[in-house]
Amino acid sequence: MIAPSHGASTFFVTELRVRAPATSANLGPGFDSFALALPLLAEFEVRPARTWSVEYEGDGDGLPPDANDDLFVVAARAVARTAKEHLAPQHVFQRTAIPLGRGLGSSAAAIAAGVTAGNALLGEPLDRRTLLRIAAEVEGHPDNVAAALYGGMTVALPTAEGPAVFRSAFPRAWRICLLVPKKKLATREARAALPASVPRADAVFNLAHASALVAAILRADGALLSIAMHDRLHEPARARLVPGLDDVVSAARSAGAFGAALSGAGPAVIAVAPARLAARVVAAMEEAADDAGAPGRARVLRVRAAGAQVRVSP
Ligand code: HSE
Repeated sequence: MIAPSHGASTFFVTELRVRAPATSANLGPGFDSFALALPLLAEFEVRPARTWSVEYEGDGDGLPPDANDDLFVVAARAVARTAKEHLAPQHVFQRTAIPLGRGLGSSAAAIAAGVTAGNALLGEPLDRRTLLRIAAEVEGHPDNVAAALYGGMTVALPTAEGPAVFRSAFPRAWRICLLVPKKKLATREARAALPASVPRADAVFNLAHASALVAAILRADGALLSIAMHDRLHEPARARLVPGLDDVVSAARSAGAFGAALSGAGPAVIAVAPARLAARVVAAMEEAADDAGAPGRARVLRVRAAGAQVRVSP
């Protein structure tokens, strides 16, 4: 819960905690548009300080030690700029259960938490759609930040006023089978591998498949999802960067998943399966990844309904 109190001229809160979920973008045909929120959380503790500073639990895994480069801080300050408010410096302690550099939205979680925290610290001057616009500008694309802010399954639609969001619940009987490879892949590298333009036939293929994928989720129609969860806009170009991708996808499908796809820019792979087959699917994904020489750990998750959340410390 947010409990702002009035200062002399601005709202302020003394300390708050924010958390935001991992996200898996694209879901096959929904490149830069679709995403799911997952129950792996990044948590941030924020308290007033003399200057902006960041601290990471553990070694930070390569995250920037300079607060000016930290995505949470960059996002929180961008909120203040848009709201034309002054945001007092904060110390930000961060811990995360989101594997970094695997295509699971660790940057988006930091950005979604940062805009949410910045807005809370200022007494909530901005609505969620404006926070999404700011978050998408910081991230460079809107899909992960949309699911990180709204939870559930999201479609981010570009408009002249910034992204609009369609949000849906995810079928309760379906599970996400997530394979996280040991090796990282930089999103920058995975985006650089994409062609600048695509043949019209591929654009039409994705248009049809993406539309059907949304219908499959709304109707909880696994047979339709099996047909819909295919892509021609990004996965073919990225397959050479993700050893074993095709094998893991095929293994998941053969073990009973409705479909499987690269998670975001990869190298993680997600499959969607009926709950009763999910254990079999993750075992098959792990085995295929091992056989392909790109081992990883697979687990069964549900889609998380909640997006970024804030609470004031007692
Ligand atoms: N939609 C983005 C991509 C997600 O595929 O590059 C990256 O996080």
